[in-house]
Amino acid sequence: MINGGIPLKGTVEISGAKNSAVAILPAALLADTPSTIDNLPEISDIELLSKMIEYLGGKTIKKEHEIIIDPKGINSFCPPHELASQMRASYYLIGALLSRFNEAAIAMPGGCNIGVRPIDQHIKGFEALGAKTTIEHGIIKVKADKLVGNHIYFDVVSVGATINLMLAACKAEGTTILENCAKEPHVVDVANFLNAMGANIKGAGTDMIKIVGVDKLHGCKHTVIPDQIEAGTYMVAAAATHGDVTIKGIIPKHLESIIAKMSEMGVIIEEYDEDLRVTTAGRLKRVDIKTQPYPGFPTDMQQLMAVLLALADGVSMITENVYEGRFKYLDELKKMGVNAKVEGRTAVIEGVEKITGAPLKATDLRAGAAMIIAGLAANGVTEVKNIYHIDRGYEAIEKKLQKLGADIKRVK
Ligand code: EPU
Repeated sequence: MINGGIPLKGTVEISGAKNSAVAILPAALLADTPSTIDNLPEISDIELLSKMIEYLGGKTIKKEHEIIIDPKGINSFCPPHELASQMRASYYLIGALLSRFNEAAIAMPGGCNIGVRPIDQHIKGFEALGAKTTIEHGIIKVKADKLVGNHIYFDVVSVGATINLMLAACKAEGTTILENCAKEPHVVDVANFLNAMGANIKGAGTDMIKIVGVDKLHGCKHTVIPDQIEAGTYMVAAAATHGDVTIKGIIPKHLESIIAKMSEMGVIIEEYDEDLRVTTAGRLKRVDIKTQPYPGFPTDMQQLMAVLLALADGVSMITENVYEGRFKYLDELKKMGVNAKVEGRTAVIEGVEKITGAPLKATDLRAGAAMIIAGLAANGVTEVKNIYHIDRGYEAIEKKLQKLGADIKRVK
């Protein structure tokens, strides 16, 4: 429940990156000895992954923002169906278990319903390394006699396929070259983690990655990078409420496209080494946004930016180039007086001077966060339902917002 209209003020600490952490936990299963992972976000996707690792025979010791994973006892290559089907990132267990056992069997991955989300590029990669794949009764099975390095060209730029192939190729025989790779900061973070475990990966962060297989990996200690999308979320929340918020513990370089777009709208962003201060002076200006893989404007930010555009002066266009189904949330926002229409992959948003609170249903993770921000910026009370979507990827969102002065509470 949100009582809107209060400008957010103060500082907010950014947690570790969800999309990095959900790959690093499975990556820890490649080692023979325990790894310690800190700056871990306290989110439900991580709880789910830890449960799956325990189920597979691994040991996890959880402390605040830290997990120790001991993979010695891992004795199964079949994560439980009901857990795996709940989250997208369970697909990283395929790469990790295939590397460990030359075999993996797992429910087809779930996650946010934001469009068709095939895993054909993952499968093409595993098969190039020598595996055979079958999909039956909702389970994907991948099996190889042994994994042998190969040259793989991805037909689409995919974060998941790039990381999954790094996992599978780390201990394959010989050299693997991945081309047309995703360059997101979390791809680099996972490569750094694997290299610290003894892997030989070069080029992560560029569109070509070279992996020379090694026999063994050992545990290591790793700090997860800050979450660029969580940081972007609080930047939008600050601007939408015309507040004054310092966002702490970030890597500004990872936020370049978000900083550029928000500055173009007239948001005032002061950049420091690891912090940003976000303020506004008057109504924001319209802009057009086209989502693209990194370093382009992230699809994960488009739903949040739509709230700012809904309140900006003029007509804006968002072109969604990554997920064709990522505009469902606009029907919910329209209940608040947002003026938007969708044609194919483009949303046209005509800014209004004010929006009003309404009962809403979160349709996915980022849409849920966008609805909270719309509620903070609106006149009156907004109720956001289905907040389990939000808990999958945002640590203590209502507590962080309360600290910034928001009138928001979690209602059972
Ligand atoms: N794609 C294919 N075939 C594949 C894989 C992807 O056609 O085998 C297509 C997808 O359909 C999409 C595009 O390629 O059109 C990019 O997909 P990608 O594989 O990069 O996305 P993902 O791995 O499924 C991750 C994040 C998403 C984020 C995208 C894009 C995780 C667990 N998820 O998904 O995060 O939107 O990359 O950056 O890392 C979120 O955090 O809200 C979220 C949805």
